[in-house]
Amino acid sequence: MSDGPHVRVFADAAEVARAAAGRFAELAARSVAERGAFSVALAGGNTPRSVYELLAGSEFSEKIDWPSVHVFFGDERAVPPDDAESNYRMASEALLSRVRVPPANVHRMKGEGDAAANARLYEDELRAFFGDAAWPRFDLVMLGMGDDGHTASLFPSTAALEERRAWVAANWVEKLGAWRVTLTAPAVNAARNVLFLVTGAGKAARLREVLRARRDPARLPSQLISPADGALEWFADRAAAADL
Ligand code: 6PG
Repeated sequence: MSDGPHVRVFADAAEVARAAAGRFAELAARSVAERGAFSVALAGGNTPRSVYELLAGSEFSEKIDWPSVHVFFGDERAVPPDDAESNYRMASEALLSRVRVPPANVHRMKGEGDAAANARLYEDELRAFFGDAAWPRFDLVMLGMGDDGHTASLFPSTAALEERRAWVAANWVEKLGAWRVTLTAPAVNAARNVLFLVTGAGKAARLREVLRARRDPARLPSQLISPADGALEWFADRAAAADL
């Protein structure tokens, strides 16, 4: 791979999912051994569903000390938690309802109701967990990338891209005609580990731009992700990595 060691290319989406589940389990074990807990922000969308299902299965689930895992969310859609579009619902069905993570350790990002209030509420919840740190120090932030280059709910040309102080933002996304609640780029960039999962030929051209084109984060928000003191990895399948 000519892009450098942080992009790993796998044969297909199933292999990306298997490698991501492995990385999750490995980072959970290391974090619990070193600090007694593992804090992870989950991604929404479709790509991570098979990762979550693998983590819930016996191969991975039994290796993870679920009572020490604290689950957060990178973004949420403006829907209640039982809606088919809810990122919480997806993670809950694929993973959280199937493992021994204590309900008190699952920090849902509210989608229903006022987005600005939900963003403030979630920032308070993060601050209660991470203490008086300048930024949240997640052990792992999982991310996807949309075919327009967005990540979490940091969409092209939206206000949240400019956020420099808040950990969580309400973000109006004109092309969706909807509010989203999202971690901000500086909050993601404070993590110890960030893992992007990108699969499918439909993302190949954009992945190339994000990784290779001149920096233009207003157009390619995924370019904002660059941990200050952490590891950034991209796991892609061959189809998504075809143009690299
Ligand atoms: C969401 C996300 C979003 C997602 C990308 C990729 O709520 O939609 O968290 O950032 O990761 O849109 O989604 P897919 O994996 O479905 O392509």
